[in-house]
Amino acid sequence: MSAASTITVDGKEIEMPVRSGTIGPDVVDISKLYAKTGAFTFDPGFTSTASCESKITYIDGDEGVLLYRGYPIEQLAEQGDYLETCYLMLFGELPTAAQKADFDYRVTRHTMVHDQMNRFFTGFRRDAHPMAVMVASVGALSAFYHDSTDITDETQRMIASMRMIAKMPTLAAMAYKYSIGQPFVYPKNDLDYTSNFLRMCYAVPCEEYVVNPVFAKALDKIFILHADHEQNASTSTVRLAGSSGANPFACIAAGIACLWGPAHGGANEAALKMLMEIGKPENVAKYVAKAKDKNDPFRLMGFGHRVYKNYDPRARIMQATTHQVLKELGKNDDPLLEVAVQLEQIALKDEYFIEKKLYPNIDFYSGITLKAMGFPTDMFTVLFAVARTVGWIAQWAEMIEDPMQKIGRPRQLYVGAPRRDYVAVDARG
Ligand code: CMC
Repeated sequence: MSAASTITVDGKEIEMPVRSGTIGPDVVDISKLYAKTGAFTFDPGFTSTASCESKITYIDGDEGVLLYRGYPIEQLAEQGDYLETCYLMLFGELPTAAQKADFDYRVTRHTMVHDQMNRFFTGFRRDAHPMAVMVASVGALSAFYHDSTDITDETQRMIASMRMIAKMPTLAAMAYKYSIGQPFVYPKNDLDYTSNFLRMCYAVPCEEYVVNPVFAKALDKIFILHADHEQNASTSTVRLAGSSGANPFACIAAGIACLWGPAHGGANEAALKMLMEIGKPENVAKYVAKAKDKNDPFRLMGFGHRVYKNYDPRARIMQATTHQVLKELGKNDDPLLEVAVQLEQIALKDEYFIEKKLYPNIDFYSGITLKAMGFPTDMFTVLFAVARTVGWIAQWAEMIEDPMQKIGRPRQLYVGAPRRDYVAVDARG
């Protein structure tokens, strides 16, 4: 507790404690406001509201800083790997070599899904969006793994966490295979996490599949960059769903549903579609003008962020990764990349974007990279969901273990009709 803040409601002065975190802005603790004054706060979109305490991820949006458990994203993406990041998220510290080997082994041994899931998949239309398949199939895990749905049991919580991290790539690859009419490929446990995923997506039974190490490394980085982002919409959804005591598989399914939207995880798909629509660098100025036009709903997808009012640190790493993947493919003159670079340059110099502090976010370049690696656009958000699963599950576990935790239940400012009496149908005017 650092100080107090005073608020006056209906002439009544109330002191609110001000609390400080390790780093970042202080918060005014208004939890007793209603009890003391009968008034609520009003903050649609939670632009000024901290919903919980957390030790997992820190963002400084003005400076463009992202830390997982205190470690800068740049260091983790350059020097670590995704499963190590998962360990860090779940346990709070980087693993020792022995802990890492044990964790990798345990996650790897959970990669298969119940074989009945294959039958579950065949109920979907082949042209279903893979995010629809993911929402359903992850929700369905709670029907297959009853032995890890008791949230009061610490061991079951950990098993559910391992299962989620391990099975998401398998389900994601199955969703992809199903959509293109190819047989499911079972996980191969001597491969690392991302190589295994690439193989499950791209291998076919009739020939050997050799994983491209540049792609595996790039995908691993993409997974690290997406692993968590503090209390974003999907994570808040997972926490809210979990606050009622729902099982972790159901909570993650809720998070996936939220992630699907174009303002959140769907933005990488939308950003790539936008770059394809722009088509060539000559058209960039026209689209920048559209984005600035108040009467035009068009926005530059992959630009702007609720928290970052500076360059998204993940976007820089993503941009470099894009170049590495395109170089590997001998496609340094990719027309989409040319459009993206031109668009970024023009927007970053434009008064509208400068004044509103709109910078490229991670989704601006990720779509180009994933497309170059062979993923269809409707799989992009699925890959985001695979990577974000550890963040969701770590935040869910943190919430369950928090002694202050209670069911999330916001209030409202009611602006509907005041009390009125029922009128029989034949007497209504
Ligand atoms: N293009 C043009 N104008 C924009 C854009 C954009 N991409 N983003 C924001 N603005 C303008 C907006 O019109 C508004 O102008 P005004 O103040 O004159 O009304 C102002 O900037 C503030 O925008 P906002 O919508 O109030 O800001 P927000 O914090 O509610 O929205 C956002 C953040 C990410 C939803 C928004 O910037 C956006 O829609 N961006 C495009 C979608 C996108 O790239 N989303 C991915 C986010 S990063 C991945 C993730 O975390 O999921």
